[in-house]
Amino acid sequence: MRQESETRLLTADAPAIAAAADALRAGGLVAFPTETVYGLGADATSNAAVARIYAAKGRPSFNPLIAHVGSLEAARREGDFNADALTLARAFWPGPLTLVVPAAPGGRVGDLARAGLETLALRVPAHPVALALLAATGLPIAAPSANVSGHVSPTLASHVRADLDGRVDIILDGGPTRVGVESTIVACLAGGPRILRAGGVTRDDIARALGRSMAADDADEGAVIAPGMLASHYAPRARVRLEARDVAPGEAALDFGGALAEFPAAARIDLSPFGDTEEAAARLFGALRALDVAGVSGIAVAPVPMEGLGEAINDRLRRAAADRP
Ligand code: TXA
Ligand code: MG
Repeated sequence: MRQESETRLLTADAPAIAAAADALRAGGLVAFPTETVYGLGADATSNAAVARIYAAKGRPSFNPLIAHVGSLEAARREGDFNADALTLARAFWPGPLTLVVPAAPGGRVGDLARAGLETLALRVPAHPVALALLAATGLPIAAPSANVSGHVSPTLASHVRADLDGRVDIILDGGPTRVGVESTIVACLAGGPRILRAGGVTRDDIARALGRSMAADDADEGAVIAPGMLASHYAPRARVRLEARDVAPGEAALDFGGALAEFPAAARIDLSPFGDTEEAAARLFGALRALDVAGVSGIAVAPVPMEGLGEAINDRLRRAAADRP
């Protein structure tokens, strides 16, 4: 197994996608853009290839991965879809939604990608480069976010290179990701649909599609069935202070709607001067990386409302601020 190799950073044109498909078929690692964040992909059917993902990320191996597929038909070969799962897939795929369903008998996704579980996370991404790669390989592609485990998810190819240079064969550069936070994860298992992770599709959108209320219950928080939802995650190195009403000396300001504009700051980014949570989600991870620089004692974060993508943004901010393991 190659641990350190030459990483090729390629503009995601047709020849680059063909080269990336070859690398995946040969058991290699390819980082590629999706509409949420960049993924670190490997052939989901090969335990050897998937093992390289865990090694490159330094990821705890009990944490299962999302298998990306090109269509609902391909997804149904891998998982058993109940009525709710079908409704959600038809409403939001391709898109920023991941469905956890029982693994289908005869599915090709290997047990290492599933971390030994009887269930499986599936997603059809809405990004032309991701879809072209899936079509070119004909494989389900296992892909977590393309960052070192516990670090901020990448929304630019340069973020991937900063974390994983030398540990991935090819990085396909498709520009900035549109959504900027990861997919919403919904489990469709016995017992009814449950949101395991807030993300690019809002709770209200899920509820509307299913025609039922999806009120946050206590069990949603830190649910054991989404083992990757560690409390401390998405973490920059600097201390993150939430719900800030001011900026302390030495702190950088991560602002929203200009709430912290009057305070001097070591560095400053306003996620959305006009208070739009979609714009803020798209800029969140890049801003955390940009403010996490030498000399900054901490990051003061302005309050972000829970409306729209605010639930996903606040979830990621809480994890960024949590005590480190
Ligand atoms: O937007 C996204 O979802 C991105 C892009 C690359 O698709 N991917 C992503 O993957 O965020 P990752 O590995 O960082 O997060 C996947 C989450 C983890 O929290 C994992 O525990 C959960 O999905 N998961 C995977 N399989 C599961 C399963 N069978 N049951 C419950 N949770 C599962
Ligand atoms: Mg991740």
